[in-house]
Amino acid sequence: MHPLALIAELTHRCPLHCVYCSNPLELQSRSTELSTGVWSRVFLEAAQLGVLQADFTGGEPLARTDIVDLVKSARAAGLYVNLITSGLPLDEPRLDALIAAGLDHLQLSFQGAREEIAAEISGTRSHAQKLRVLAWLKSRRIAVTLNFVIHRRNIDQLPEMLAIAESSSATRIEFANVQYYGWAFANREHLLPTRTQLDASLAFIQQAQKRLEGRIRVEFVVPDYYAKYPKPCMGGWARKLMLVTPSGEALPCHAAKIIPGLSFDNVKDRSLREIWQSSEAFEKFRGQSWMQEPCKSCDRREQDFGGCRCQAFLLAGDPAATDPVCSLSPKRQTVDAILTAINSSSTDTPACAPPTSHRPDVTILHRPAARNATARQIPLALPPQSLLTAAPSTRRSHRSAHHALQIPYQRPHRLIKLLVVRLLSIRSMDRLRQRPEHVVRLPVKNRQPEHRQRVR
Ligand code: SF4
Ligand code: FES
Repeated sequence: MHPLALIAELTHRCPLHCVYCSNPLELQSRSTELSTGVWSRVFLEAAQLGVLQADFTGGEPLARTDIVDLVKSARAAGLYVNLITSGLPLDEPRLDALIAAGLDHLQLSFQGAREEIAAEISGTRSHAQKLRVLAWLKSRRIAVTLNFVIHRRNIDQLPEMLAIAESSSATRIEFANVQYYGWAFANREHLLPTRTQLDASLAFIQQAQKRLEGRIRVEFVVPDYYAKYPKPCMGGWARKLMLVTPSGEALPCHAAKIIPGLSFDNVKDRSLREIWQSSEAFEKFRGQSWMQEPCKSCDRREQDFGGCRCQAFLLAGDPAATDPVCSLSPKRQTVDAILTAINSSSTDTPACAPPTSHRPDVTILHRPAARNATARQIPLALPPQSLLTAAPSTRRSHRSAHHALQIPYQRPHRLIKLLVVRLLSIRSMDRLRQRPEHVVRLPVKNRQPEHRQRVR
């Protein structure tokens, strides 16, 4: 078993300041970030280990002044390169440089369909710049995914979000409900949609999927508190993915550092292969030996791997427990109580309401503190008309633990080529059978399609 994708958190610096940011509460500073040379070695080691795709994320990966060199080195190592970005520190020459360097795919994140909600959620006026980036992308040969982060305060804007996506060159749209870790966990009671909103959004998404079939792939990630079974987080602990933080710590998932007692190796001290194969953190919840009942004897344990270890810790206080969002978990009542409170007290407007109806009060939300040093460090190479000149704060948009893991939909030829090369290198059918994921599960998604819409 080896990882298929490397999530490269290049930096925690970011011009956005989102109330659901998935970065850890303790951010790593610029001075601790890995150098270009170390990242280049990591990409090479990743490819040698069997990784096919590098997801560049952050923070805002474009905050790295060496981002073009990083794309080049990842591509030279043979990786499919996916840039997950807010689109802020970007202009047309930089975009062209990234594409020329070999960028395969760009995932642009949105905080909503309108400037006002995006600004309120991210603390930065960024929406107009994102629309400019979309316009630039139309004339470029690069695969594009749009990622809209969904929650109670913007779920009414789904039709407008879809209209934005339909007018773009994106061939894949991800409407991803916030998952509750980090700052999202702190703001959960203000972000979790109501059952009414969720039902209305599911109906809307199903219609959109039907109408756009064959043209745009529309994906919807439910808030898993409403799901019957948990998500197979990260495709299973240390099964398919590994994450490297800005300072070089190798983690099995974005939130792993919240789990007490785990220690993490650093790519500066050990090779990626050694870390993947034998580090304590990766071994801790690998396989099934750590499982408790009911997971231990459950038929679904090969599908969802007991859910999310970090969520089990956050909600049940035990990282080895069954994920409490599972309907079979003895702790499911914790999640039910949260949903009951949300659904009985919410004063939100109905889902998918027309524009101008909803102006959320974000003053009650917790927001990561501004990182002034970060603001100075990010090269905002923007057109003169950019609204960013008025940016009041610094923080990145949300890329949940899951957004970074989607293998791009368009431009599959390079991925297929990589797959064929890898398959040819597998010498025997026995070995092939031991690694079935190479054959049928390359598009790594840590949510199975059924999870996306299976709500309780
Ligand atoms: Fe998954 Fe465990 Fe729930 Fe079974 S009991 S569905 S393995 S989380
Ligand atoms: Fe850590 Fe799910 S986020 S296992």
